[in-house]
This record gives sequence, C-alpha cells and structure tokens, in this order.
Amino acid sequence: EKDGHDWFMRKEIFEQPHAVADSLLGRRSRTGSLQLDEMRLSDQELRDIDKIIIIAAGTSFYAGLVAKYAIEHWCRIPVEVELSSEFRYRDPILDYSTLVVAISQSGETADTLQAIRHARTQRSKVLAICNTNGSTIPRESDAVIYTHAGPEIGVASTKGYTTQLVACYLLALYLAQVKGTRFGDEIDQIMGQLEQIPAAIESILARADEVYALAHEFAASTSFIFLGRHAGYPTALEGALKLKELAYLHAEGFAAGELKHGPIALIDDGLPVFCIVPPQGRDQLHDKMLSGIQEVRARGARTICLAEEGDARITPYADRLVRLPRVPVLLQPLVSVVPLQLFACELATALGHDVDQPRNLAKSVTVE
Ligand code: M6R
Repeated sequence: EKDGHDWFMRKEIFEQPHAVADSLLGRRSRTGSLQLDEMRLSDQELRDIDKIIIIAAGTSFYAGLVAKYAIEHWCRIPVEVELSSEFRYRDPILDYSTLVVAISQSGETADTLQAIRHARTQRSKVLAICNTNGSTIPRESDAVIYTHAGPEIGVASTKGYTTQLVACYLLALYLAQVKGTRFGDEIDQIMGQLEQIPAAIESILARADEVYALAHEFAASTSFIFLGRHAGYPTALEGALKLKELAYLHAEGFAAGELKHGPIALIDDGLPVFCIVPPQGRDQLHDKMLSGIQEVRARGARTICLAEEGDARITPYADRLVRLPRVPVLLQPLVSVVPLQLFACELATALGHDVDQPRNLAKSVTVE
C-alpha cells in the first residue's frame, strides 16, 4: 500500500507530479476558457466581489498566503489571509461583496468550519478548496474547488498542499477571466506553464538522494532557519513547519527582509539557514534575497540555497545548493517546497521518529 516506500508521507511526496496533473485536468473548455465544475457562483456574483478573505489553518494557511500573491496580481482584488482560529474573534468586516475562501485538505477542520459558519451569518459567499468529497466544509459552502490529490494518509500535508496551490491558481485565473483583467487573456499561457509543473517536480524527485544526503549531513543540528521573499516566504514557513512537525526541531521561517529587524540576532556559527531564492528576473527580488544571504553568511550561518538552474550569481554564497527547475516566480512555490518536504521526511527518519504519526498530532483537528 505504500508502493515500496517506508512511509505514506514519502509515497505522497512522490505522488505529487500525478496529483498536480490530476488537479489541472479538465479545467479548460474547448474554446480555451477555464471552467470550474462546482463553482456554483454566477459570473455576476463573482464580479460583485470587492474583497477576498482566505481562511485556513497550518499548511493550508500557507497555501492561502501564496494565493494572495496570485489573486492580487492577476485579478486586482484585495486579499486578506487569516488563520481560521483567529478570524471570528476579531469581528471581521464582512458583507455580500466579500468572498470568503476556506482552504482545508480534510474539509473537517473545526476552526475553519466555525469560521465559514460565521462568514455565512454575515451574508458572505463561501468558496471551499478541499480534497475530500462530501466533507463538512464543502457541504456548508456556496461553491467548491476540489483538489484531486487522492487520499492523504501521512499527518504532514504534502500533495494536499501542492494541489491546494493549483486550486488557488485556478481560482485566481478564473476570477481574472470573469473580471476581464489583462491576465484574463493570458490564461492559456499560464495554464501551459502550470501544465509543465508535474515534469518540473519529477525532475526534483529524480534527485531526491542529494536532498537526503543533506538531511544526514545536518542531522545533528537542533535549530534551522528558513528565509524567503514574495511567494517564497510561505515556502519558508512551510519548510519550517514540516521540520517542527516531523523532526521535533526548532525551525523558523522568516521573510528575508525582516532579518535585520530582529531575527538576525539568532544567527550563530554553523546555524543551517535554508534560503529560497526567487528566479532571476527584472525586479529586485533576486538581488534583495542575495544580500540577505550574504548577511547571514557573514555571521557564520551555513546556507542551503534553493535556486533555479542557471542562477550562477548564487553559487559563491551557497554552502550547499539545491537546484530548482526554472518556473515563473508566482509558480515557484509548487517546486520549491518539494526539497523541503524530502528533507524533513528524511531527517525525521534518521532521527528515528514516526513520520506518518508524529507525536501530539492528528490528521484532522476536529476540535477548536
Ligand atoms: O485539513 P486541513 O487542511 O484543514 O488541515 C489544516 C492543518 O491542520 C494541516 O495543514 C496541518 O498543519 C498539517 N499537519 C500540516 O502538515
């Protein structure tokens, strides 16, 4: 049942090319426009939306953070992302023109369920992104985008996460199409880029051994830092969460630009720092990331850089280097998370932990 893998988690990491491809399947009509089967909200209802609030917990929350970059860039609709457990208690401003997007792999997370119930009492429309057909959250929502990851058994979410990212991109493109933004005309091109992702993930998985070697090399470290910028920031948070959950180690993700506002004080001789390097582009993201990496390195950190193929400028600053396939910056989270999943899985295994059933955790958290 684990297809020769030691853990369900590892099997599920390796299933991601398939899961991502399945989650993209059948979303384009003959004319090339996007169609989302269980959208159930009319174009007019969607055009009336002037604000989106994404609510989710844990890894699903990080998918929401990525979604904010895509939706705001492609659709020009303001997006807030909030932890479900916090949402209700701050008396959020909601009405019929607010779309609440609930992201939940299981569809049963109590914090998220209570949050959507609250949103509906305020007349907001609720759209669920969910992997579990017929679960409570999609049943209580106005619309659903199902991810097609197949059952996720490992407590740590992997293919659940990458397929949530796919659903978020699909939602963003759909809204761009309905609203007629300029990206509405680029749907074909962006869908084409998304369709390349399964092969890109495959190419990382083919080099899993390199990441496993790193996990063994750093197996004695008790603390890890993860740095990212822009869409790489949620990846940093997710990489740190995976390591906490599975290896029970201190791990923190930061926006690289925040370093100098405090966290840089943590940097000590030999501290491993994962750096998620954005693609080299016309903007300053890459330069800024590079200077953050230099700062931590100058203070003794050992940098493990995740950077795209062909990025030569990173080489002098990377104590260790994991190459990523070249993809556009907004889609990079789909590939950059994979080495971090492999790393956490392998490190936890090396430390003798039960990867599929980490201590104190349950697959779905059905209490608030
Ligand atoms: O089923 P959900 O997506 O609502 O679950 C949310 C979180 O509980 C979940 O992502 C949790 O953080 C995972 N253990 C992460 O690996």
